[in-house]
Formats: sequence, structure tokens, C-alpha cells
Amino acid sequence: MMDVRFSGFGPVKDGVLIVGATEGGKLMAQAAAADKASGGAVAAAAKRNRFTGAKGQIVDVAGAAGGRVVLVGLGKAEAIDPLVGEAVGGAVIARFLTCGEAKLVFALDVSAEIAGHVALAAVLRGYRFDKYRTKLKDDQKPSVKTIEVQTGDPAAARKQWKAHEAAIAGVTFTRDLVTEPANVIYPQSFADRCAELKKLGVVVEVLGEKEMKKLGMGALLGVGQGSAKESKLVVMQWKGGAAKEAPIALVGKGVTFDTGGISLKPGDGMWDMKWDMGGAGAVAGAMKALATRKAKANVVGVLGLVENMPDGDAQRPGDIVTSMSGQTIEVWNTDAEGRLVLADALWYTQDRFKPRYMVNLATLTGAIMIALGLDHGGLFSNDDTLSAELTAAGKAVGEEVWRLPLVESLDRAIDSACADMKNITGSRFGGSIVGAMFLQRFVNETKWAHLDIAGVAWSAKARHIHPEGATGFGVRLLDRFVKDVAEG
Ligand code: BES
Ligand code: MN
Ligand code: ZN
Repeated sequence: MMDVRFSGFGPVKDGVLIVGATEGGKLMAQAAAADKASGGAVAAAAKRNRFTGAKGQIVDVAGAAGGRVVLVGLGKAEAIDPLVGEAVGGAVIARFLTCGEAKLVFALDVSAEIAGHVALAAVLRGYRFDKYRTKLKDDQKPSVKTIEVQTGDPAAARKQWKAHEAAIAGVTFTRDLVTEPANVIYPQSFADRCAELKKLGVVVEVLGEKEMKKLGMGALLGVGQGSAKESKLVVMQWKGGAAKEAPIALVGKGVTFDTGGISLKPGDGMWDMKWDMGGAGAVAGAMKALATRKAKANVVGVLGLVENMPDGDAQRPGDIVTSMSGQTIEVWNTDAEGRLVLADALWYTQDRFKPRYMVNLATLTGAIMIALGLDHGGLFSNDDTLSAELTAAGKAVGEEVWRLPLVESLDRAIDSACADMKNITGSRFGGSIVGAMFLQRFVNETKWAHLDIAGVAWSAKARHIHPEGATGFGVRLLDRFVKDVAEG
């Protein structure tokens, strides 16, 4: 990982000096100084390159002032906030990560807080997963090793960096889990990686099929029935709050590979289903972030880990299973498996922990991408306050969620003639809402929210805060949510 350090404004001997301008191409103080030192080369390069100071715009003034100066746009001066800082940090690292330079020095005239977000984004956008790329040429490998951020208050920036470092550790953990292929990450190996969080003080329990059978988790177990890999339930507890304080519970769908089961998916694109454990991955990453920064809150993370495979012993369409709640489910479609896994994971969590809030994350439906596109996660909740708090946390960190309704008629549509419910309606309409209505049947009085992250857990395109691939969506949202609602 890149080394990040903070220092006061001052001369730069090596590396790339990055200075800022606002809308209209107005050079900020450090940029004006660099321009003067280079005999006007910065302003001249800006002009030649049609630089307007728009957010994330970059002009490389190689050779200026005896070194290399980069001018970056911050947009409207009055609108510079942490997310603008992140857009800028991400844009710069995207451009220079492999350029040959070893060090980037940011000298932007922004607050220490925003300077911290610049560095955060640079590290997150600079994430790489190269462990299986054995033939990378040297010029394809990252050259940037050090990010130095100059700020008027380096002590304040360093103090805040602790929390950012924790978030980075969490997001990185999630991305690694999500990116690993399903022959490497399956329920047992996923659980093993979670067990590493014990070192940070997280209490980790792993339940196997025998224990889950005893608890009556027929819905979860039915999904894993066709797999050679044993299903697991991981229970993580971070006890950073007062002993009697009810915890916030986070529950994740962890389908380590989703073939669809006997309701087999088409082969084309099926490789994407290695990241069908993105919800569990986000919960695991959030636990890591919280434990790393020693959050003053009680948080439990529960992961339902299964592999959905077709097999001679796999669950069939029409099978009826009994969930831990006692409710029976007719499995019309073995590819609507996430809700079956969560049915038991949610019930278990609510029953055992009596949480103050229960939030589940799941790559639950393809339909959520049809409804919302790829920029928002779907949010469903039985509580307006919880819903508003999650929405605000997401907005604050740039992981946005958008609320959709829980619809009574779609709940009736999953009534079954031969069991308490079926797992699909048979119609494509409101597919994401149907998934949420199903989950709600396994939630009692608990204040609960369901985040459908099928559209945001993985990205075919790089964006300012992540390269292409696993995004880590949810980790920073949950970290922020816990901070805002449980840590006063
Ligand atoms: N894991 C999928 C949903 C998904 C699709 C996630 C694309 C990420 C990208 C889920 O298990 C699934 O198969 N859902 C079905 C539900 C249907 C059978 C009611 C779907 O979305 O088609
Ligand atoms: Mn499926
Ligand atoms: Zn799935």
C-alpha cells in the first residue's frame, strides 16, 4: 500500500507537485507560487490546454520549475467539500499511478479535513489486485509509493487520518474478498479470513451445517445443499459500547458463487456471480473498519455463507423448506437464493441479539439495476428514521442509496398454495420489491433496512474512488452510519 504522510506547506525537492485552481482557472495560492517559480509556465500550460478549473481536470506541466507540476481543477471555490477532495485525489492518482514517478506531493489550498479526503481517495482509487497477474510489465505496475499532503495543519490531518486508515483497511478487506474467485473464497475460506479479525478484538464464531441444522435453518441450508463446500454462518461481535447497549446488527448475503442452482443461470456473464457475496464482504469490511478505529459502539456482523450449485443432491424447484422462524417456503426458483439465506440469517440475528437496528446488505436482485441504474444502492426499510440515517450516511461518504417502497400487494403475491410463502411471484414486475417483501417476513418488530447492492458492489468502470472491479460499497456507509447514530 501507498505510504501517506502530512506536512506543512514548503518547498518540494522530489516527486510531482500538485497544485489547485478553481473555476475560471483561478490559481490558488500554492499554484500561483509554482507559477511564479516557473516563470509563468503553469498559467501558460493551463491556457494551452483549455483548462477551466473544472473538478478533476488535470494539466501536467512536466518540467516546470525544475520539477514536475500538475495543476488540478477543484471546481467552484465555495463548493469545495470532502467529496470534491475525493474526486480530485482520485483523478490525480488515476492519471499518475503508473507514470514512473514515485512520489506525489499535494499542495492544495484546502482545509486539513479536505486534504485528508484527497489522500483517502488517492489510496482507494490506487487499489490494485495483482496477485494473479504474473506477467505484468514493469511499466504496468504502480510507481507511486508515497503520497505527501501539505496542509496548514498537518497535526489535525494526521489525527483524522487514523479514521481514514481504518476505512481503507475495511474497504481493502472487502475488495480482496469480493475480487477473489470462487475457487479461493468459499464459505470456509471466507470464514477463515473473518477469523483474522480476532486480532483486532472482534469476537468471531463460525457455525457449520450441524449447528445450523440444530437451529432449524432449513432455508439457508437448502441453498448450500448442492455444493461440495460446507455452508457457514459467521457471527462477529465488536463490543466497543456500553455493556447493556443494544447492538447495531449488520447482516450480509454471502453467496460465494451463484450458478442459480437447478434454475441455472445462462453461462454468459456467470463469472460475475463470484461477487454474489458482496453484502457479506461489505459487512466483514465494516467490522474491520470499526474494530481498527476502535469504534465506541456495539456492532454485530452476521454472514450467511453458501455456494449455490446444481447437483444430484441440489434443491429442486418446488421443494418446500422450513426456516428457523418456523415459516415454510416453497422454492419456486433456486436462483432466488439470497432471500432464502437471509431469511435464516435475519431471524437468527434478531432472535439472538435483539438489535436496536438491523441492516442487511445483499446483491439480491438484477432488477435493482433496472430500477435505479448503477449509481445508487436500493434501500427498503420499515422505519423512516433508520431510512433517513442510512441515506444521510451514504450521501456523506459518496455511497448513495435510494429508498423504494415496501408494497403490500407484492407481499400477497408471494403467498403459496402449499406452503406459507414461495420465493418468487412468477412475474418480473417489482422484482426488487418482491425480494424485500420476502425478507420482511423474517423481521419482527425490529427496526430493519435492506440494502440491495447488486448494482454497486462491482463496477465495470473505474470511478474516482475505485478502479474497475470490486468497489467496497457499503463499508464506508456503514462505518459512517455507526459513527453518526451510535457514537454520539
Ligand atoms: N445474485 C443474483 C442477483 C444479481 C444479479 C446480483 C446480477 C448481481 C448481478 C440473485 O441471486 C438472483 O439470481 N436474482 C434473481 C431473482 C429472480 C430469480 C427472482 C434475478 O435477479 O434474476
Ligand atoms: Mn441467484
Ligand atoms: Zn444470488
